[in-house]
Amino acid sequence: MSKSGGKGGSGARQLKTRVKSARGRSNSSTRWLQRQLNDPYVKRAHDEGWRSRAAFKLIEIDDKQNLLKPGMRIVDLGCAPGGWLQVAAKRTGSTPDDPHIVGIDYLEMEPVPGCIILHKDFTEDDAPQMLIDALGGHKADLVLSDMAAPTTGHKATDHLRIIALVELAADFAIQILKPGGTFVAKVFQGGTEHELLAELKRSFATTAHIKPPASRKDSAESYLIAKGFKG
Ligand SMILES: C[S@@+](CC[C@H](N)C(=O)[O-])C[C@H]1O[C@@H](n2cnc3c(N)ncnc32)[C@H](O)[C@@H]1O
Repeated sequence: MSKSGGKGGSGARQLKTRVKSARGRSNSSTRWLQRQLNDPYVKRAHDEGWRSRAAFKLIEIDDKQNLLKPGMRIVDLGCAPGGWLQVAAKRTGSTPDDPHIVGIDYLEMEPVPGCIILHKDFTEDDAPQMLIDALGGHKADLVLSDMAAPTTGHKATDHLRIIALVELAADFAIQILKPGGTFVAKVFQGGTEHELLAELKRSFATTAHIKPPASRKDSAESYLIAKGFKG
């Protein structure tokens, strides 16, 4: 790995970390590592103590949409490594004595103070009930989903899996939200599928798609925000 000056004149030279491809490391992981090392959000996340650069996506979405309020009950689907949980706990004041945020992920992760974490695949049949139980049987004010299905490289399969996961998250949100509640979900390829969007428009007062600045420009992801659940 070497550090070298970027473009620009000597006064304004920006240091950019270059990564030499090593034996055993594929070109794509070399590119990923180089992008990580030069990503200002990755540095900020490290400096500010957020578990992931994804934390900034929720911060930016919330700064625009004003979603997180003290005392809210929240479910976070696909919560590892916990950046969104940290932001949600901080902005709603959820504490270890009185946690009102529940996250689920099939990946192992460190605990997040103020949050209950289920180590489980959300697509398993008993996951929704386990989330409801973890919320103490209460309905939620906000359902967040940053889940992404692992890609296979087969475009049609990947597309179907992505859609299936968002649909499952939306069905769960409709089952668990309080009237007036909000559903936020990561979606791909320019937006939510037509049929799902139509269903959400029937169930929520407003729907919108936003791409927060922290979402990489070259990524097809955006976030669906459905507000005002009709119950
Ligand atoms: C982009 S990451 C979430 C990052 C998180 N919002 C944060 O701020 O740290 C997506 C997560 O979704 C999880 N995931 C994907 N499919 C899942 C499933 N079926 N059940 C549970 N978690 C899932 C992945 O394991 C991954 O940790």
